[in-house]
Amino acid sequence: MYLGLDLGTSGLRALLTDPVGRVIDSAEAGYDNPHPHAGWSEQDPTDWIAACESAIGALKSRNAAAVADIKGIGLSGQMHGATLLDRAGQVLRPCILWNDTRSSAEAAALDATPKMRDITGNIVFPGFTAPKLLWVAKHEPEVFAKTVKVLLPKDYLRFWLTGEFVADQSDAAGTSWLDTGARAWSGDALKAGGLTEDHMPSLVEGSEVSGMLRSSLKEAWGIRAPVVVAGGAADNAAAACGAGCFAEGQGFVSLGTSGVLLAAKDSYAPAPETAVHTFCHAVPARWYQMGVILAATDSLNWLARNLGQTPGDLARALPDQITGPNRAMFLPYLSGERTPHNNAALRGSFVGLDIASDSKALTAAVLEGVAYALRDNLEALKATGTELSSVLALGGGARSRFWLETIATLFDMPLRLPADGEFGAAMGAVRLAMAAAEEASLEEIMTQPDIAETIDPRAELSEAYEAGYQRYAALAPALIADAE
Ligand code: XUL
Repeated sequence: MYLGLDLGTSGLRALLTDPVGRVIDSAEAGYDNPHPHAGWSEQDPTDWIAACESAIGALKSRNAAAVADIKGIGLSGQMHGATLLDRAGQVLRPCILWNDTRSSAEAAALDATPKMRDITGNIVFPGFTAPKLLWVAKHEPEVFAKTVKVLLPKDYLRFWLTGEFVADQSDAAGTSWLDTGARAWSGDALKAGGLTEDHMPSLVEGSEVSGMLRSSLKEAWGIRAPVVVAGGAADNAAAACGAGCFAEGQGFVSLGTSGVLLAAKDSYAPAPETAVHTFCHAVPARWYQMGVILAATDSLNWLARNLGQTPGDLARALPDQITGPNRAMFLPYLSGERTPHNNAALRGSFVGLDIASDSKALTAAVLEGVAYALRDNLEALKATGTELSSVLALGGGARSRFWLETIATLFDMPLRLPADGEFGAAMGAVRLAMAAAEEASLEEIMTQPDIAETIDPRAELSEAYEAGYQRYAALAPALIADAE
């Protein structure tokens, strides 16, 4: 049996499978995400541990026999968070998360440091880990002085599970301390960030063994044999493993809190000037590129909150079939933007509102605005030479036909909808555990899901949506100027 643990932003999901990766059961446990000041986003790492114990406890209460036979655990998690530990392995302050923008100034300074983009293959975005440490050094020098190890969120969970300080390259690539092409820590990047390699965990590939489950936990959970803990992966790399996006050109568009357009790559081909992220994949000698927008379903959540409705009700009020772009337009920069603008100060806007604009028109504008933002990401990926001919559609937003048809038409590309089942980050974590336990070859493990349906572009409307996209793209500079 295998266990995948996905440490998300709102909660931890534990997925229990049989020896070939078929789902037996899953359990979730949530935790808080305090925002003590504007732009701050933190989490207490002890809450992650409590959530893990609670989720595994729930699995054990329902499936004690299967849990007893677990032989591998895989980890997946939210990227970029900085968990600071002292010499005794104690947490020094709340983890600063991926969506925390307090260190924008430090990120800009680090990004302007010669060679940083060459080494890491990426812009130093405000949400990445390195600028957070510069912020702590400046604003909490006593904490910085005591910091002996810096761990990403899922690697803190691993430390609790195994007692080992280990990271995998896919997650490490989001720190701005990794030489992403060489898949190794960079002394120069660490030095620019005021740290040394001693502050870092050791590195393994996601599909390799990172350590063994501590015997006290093994006994507490009633597990019989030794349990390997795989390197695991950053959430998007894990989702790519779960959905079998593994070979060059395979990719997905994910409509979650943030929006992601991801393409797997056989080679390392960074293009930081496009604001595309180029990270190590969770398996050796592969990378992936992705465009990230910070508010996808979060834009719909925001609208729903303000209209006093649920996001599902708003989305369901729209027709399944699109009929052409709406005049009211939304630019979804509610939390700033990564790709293509790299601007933490940028904010969103409605344009072209009419006295007759109702909640349905606003909802259509919000979903279309997110689709336009994702088209920006497709253009950025194309500018790096990456080619995608069709993509899987993943995430909660993929339940909206209106949204999927809009994206397919704007991308001029079919979107493939997986049949019901498990193909997310937790399944990716399970698959990496199977690889680490040498259950089968990577090609055998990382298969694509069954496709329930293909959403084709509406060719007769493509000109109209293209004109909408050009209008959208022409509006962004005014918002960028407004953010200055
Ligand atoms: C990727 C990113 C998010 C987080 C949170 O760069 O910031 O996908 O990993 O899920």
